[in-house]
Amino acid sequence: MIMNAEQKYIDISWDFRSANTKQYTHCYHNYPAMMIPQIAHRLIELYGKNAKTLFDPYCGTGTSLVEANLQGINAFGTDINPMARLIAEAKTTLIELQILDLYLKEFNDFLFSLVFGIQKPNIVMTNFKNIDFWFTKEVKEKLAVIKWFINSIKDENIKKFFLVAFSETIRESSLTRNSEFKLYRMSEKQRVNFNPDVYGAINYKLARNRIGLKDYITQKKNSSETKIYAFDSSKNISEIEEESIDIVVTSPPYGDSKTTVAYGQFSRLSNQWLGFENASQLDNQLMGGKLQNIKNSGIDIVDNLVAKIADKDEKRAKEVYSFYKDYINSISNVSKVIKKNGYACYVVGNRRVKDITLPTDEITKYIFQEHGFEYKNTFIRNIPNKRMPSKNSPTNEIGKKATTMNKEYIVIVQKQ
Ligand SMILES: C[S@@+](CC[C@H](N)C(=O)[O-])C[C@H]1O[C@@H](n2cnc3c(N)ncnc32)[C@H](O)[C@@H]1O
Repeated sequence: MIMNAEQKYIDISWDFRSANTKQYTHCYHNYPAMMIPQIAHRLIELYGKNAKTLFDPYCGTGTSLVEANLQGINAFGTDINPMARLIAEAKTTLIELQILDLYLKEFNDFLFSLVFGIQKPNIVMTNFKNIDFWFTKEVKEKLAVIKWFINSIKDENIKKFFLVAFSETIRESSLTRNSEFKLYRMSEKQRVNFNPDVYGAINYKLARNRIGLKDYITQKKNSSETKIYAFDSSKNISEIEEESIDIVVTSPPYGDSKTTVAYGQFSRLSNQWLGFENASQLDNQLMGGKLQNIKNSGIDIVDNLVAKIADKDEKRAKEVYSFYKDYINSISNVSKVIKKNGYACYVVGNRRVKDITLPTDEITKYIFQEHGFEYKNTFIRNIPNKRMPSKNSPTNEIGKKATTMNKEYIVIVQKQ
């Protein structure tokens, strides 16, 4: 592996240690492994000078889309997770504050009249498998009340604004251990003492998000727009026109959901409350979620790694292969939609499997080079602790922990 020291280096100016990462609509909703807005902002400034279009093939909650919009660039994103799409849509939508305030007042009046028994609407209870395992009766009733109010909102943009605050309230008032991305139920002792203020929580979030929206409206003085798709970026991405994108800014998953970050599990309760189908199957649909038989991937570095892991553990090798196979297809698709001289900026992590480091930054670079891109730079940054827990649970076994990565690699390539 030839490495040019001048192109790949540690640069702590990308750490943004003391930066406020929750400005504007970035404050709307928490999500695992969110991109730091300052990274997206700087990448767009450096590589998207005259850009008109940005694409994020794993847009999550839309950090790079918001930053593109703030810089007057039209943004396209896709994500398989419906909850993430909802958040991304809300974050990139301007709402008139006066209209929002009318709804916020109506919501408060509604809760007041409920709490004081003035009104008793005919609430339809939400039901899904295991709902009583994750929610106490009181919480379930309060969430159903909030959902009933939100469903009565006719204005789709206002509805999304409320749904995002509702979604975060669902997770916080559930019996899950909030410090984990995966779904683990609280201990019996914790459950006995758990009495969340559901109405207080959603009101806090609505007020916080209103401040973020106000700042976003003040800052965004252009007519840029966003379109969010639901397609799998490793399959067919024909919705995005070939050679139409000036810059891609994205942070792909570090690996399959089962052994790295479980986006599906993190979002499952919200997705179920919001009525999205197949919420419990989501992790199987994300990159690497379906196990494939090991074949030649077409990228030597991947095949050599998979062979090395297979010597130690055939199943883990299959998991790693399946992830990279999807990743290779996704980059092949993404390369087609980028314009000549356009840039791809990938923020990736190099995880370890069976004591073997998987150099996803090098793999990203090689796959793009195979598709006619020139390698420019890799900036290596430290991941601040607050973004990812320093330890996570890579399996479903409670208490089994592994150290997560503490470095990220920002890989820059340009289409020739
Ligand atoms: C690291 S997160 C992106 C976070 C995002 N940058 C943010 O700030 O919120 C990776 C995302 O990739 C999505 N994803 C995984 N596989 C995908 C696929 N095949 N197609 C589209 N999205 C996928 C996951 O649902 C997750 O939201």
